[in-house]
Amino acid sequence: MSKPACSPATLAARAGVETDTAHGAVMPPLYLSSNYTFDGFKNKREYDYSRSGNPTRDTAGQAIAKLEGGHGAVLVASGMAALDLLTYAVKPGELIFAPHDCYGGTHRLLRCKAERGSFRVRWVDQTDLQKLEQAFAEEAPKLILIETPSNPLLRLTDVRAVCTLAKRYGTLCAADNTFLSPVLQRPFELGADIVIHSTTKYLNGHSDVVGGALISRTPELHQDFAFWANCIGNTGSPFDAYQTLRGLRTLEVRIRQQEKTALQVARFLEQHGAVAKVYYPGLTSHPGHLLACRQQHGFGAMISFEVAGGEEQVRLLVEALEYFSLAESLGGVESLIAHPATMTHASMDEAARAKAGISNQLIRLSIGLEGAQDLLADLTEALDGVLASLPSEVEREVVAA
Ligand SMILES: Cc1ncc(COP(=O)(O)O)c(C=O)c1O
Repeated sequence: MSKPACSPATLAARAGVETDTAHGAVMPPLYLSSNYTFDGFKNKREYDYSRSGNPTRDTAGQAIAKLEGGHGAVLVASGMAALDLLTYAVKPGELIFAPHDCYGGTHRLLRCKAERGSFRVRWVDQTDLQKLEQAFAEEAPKLILIETPSNPLLRLTDVRAVCTLAKRYGTLCAADNTFLSPVLQRPFELGADIVIHSTTKYLNGHSDVVGGALISRTPELHQDFAFWANCIGNTGSPFDAYQTLRGLRTLEVRIRQQEKTALQVARFLEQHGAVAKVYYPGLTSHPGHLLACRQQHGFGAMISFEVAGGEEQVRLLVEALEYFSLAESLGGVESLIAHPATMTHASMDEAARAKAGISNQLIRLSIGLEGAQDLLADLTEALDGVLASLPSEVEREVVAA
């Protein structure tokens, strides 16, 4: 009887195990050497120079490619480096469709490169399929970038529907899967050609690496991106790859536990008087809830919400919390709180943020691995303080009059 296909947990736990031929080390070693000897004149071994190829980076890359179900992965220096590498699929004059509400750094990269003439970019609301079809009919892009759930508003795009539409026009589809990881969403199964990760986030999961991955469905695409990564020299460091592979081994248990706590936190936020609105795809109130049930294998551990009041209430909240560090990034074992308008999305101008729906009252949480009861107690205390600071209805009426 043949064995069933490996689960993500098995793939991650076994990646590179027992591959060391020198000493029989169980875990794959870290190769820091920048260069490799030739085995005599004109006789290159598998590796010659670590920018072009490195055994540690390859082991981590193969593990990530397998987890996503792609042909190969190029590991690069950051998520932004992966997105930049993606743009090598497009020539000057060609068009990219990108979400109007994507991560601020992605928005800046595409905007600034378009301004320099590297390509043209059109910002589209990909959650509105009718508008998207119209945009394709007007001019089909060479590449469409999907980010779902989106950062920071957790909007969901129907990946299968977008990829089906894009295929009709011969458009390449790339999906940024940073927010869910291959444990909770597998874009290749939904029709994507390329998957992007900021491995800084869930894949490494311990907030001690900045890295990125670009995974391709076909050998041709993978070879193309590997060629460009070597040309421009943005490949990731072996040490980062080693750390990422180490983090990857526990990806499934981490994200499943984080998700469990996130659902409790989202439900708690939804009923608190200091919270005006909660964005979490696991809540039935989320407009993309049914799509999430269909397309995802879980709801993830990112939550956004609008805090009632003004800037003072935002300050009170972020400064009162003990177990949520006020910091950018996400997907680590520690819980984080961020204010997108002044932090992760500050590189978008006010008009672009308004168009994307990112208000000054928006707060983003990355739920970590602390005990759920501790996080809930922390949030209760901080939000009760926010509530107490809000003017009462009577006071508001007096001010309005
Ligand atoms: C969805 C998404 N994609 C890409 C990036 C960029 O990744 P990095 O910070 O590793 O360059 C981020 C960073 O927050 C992100 O949230």
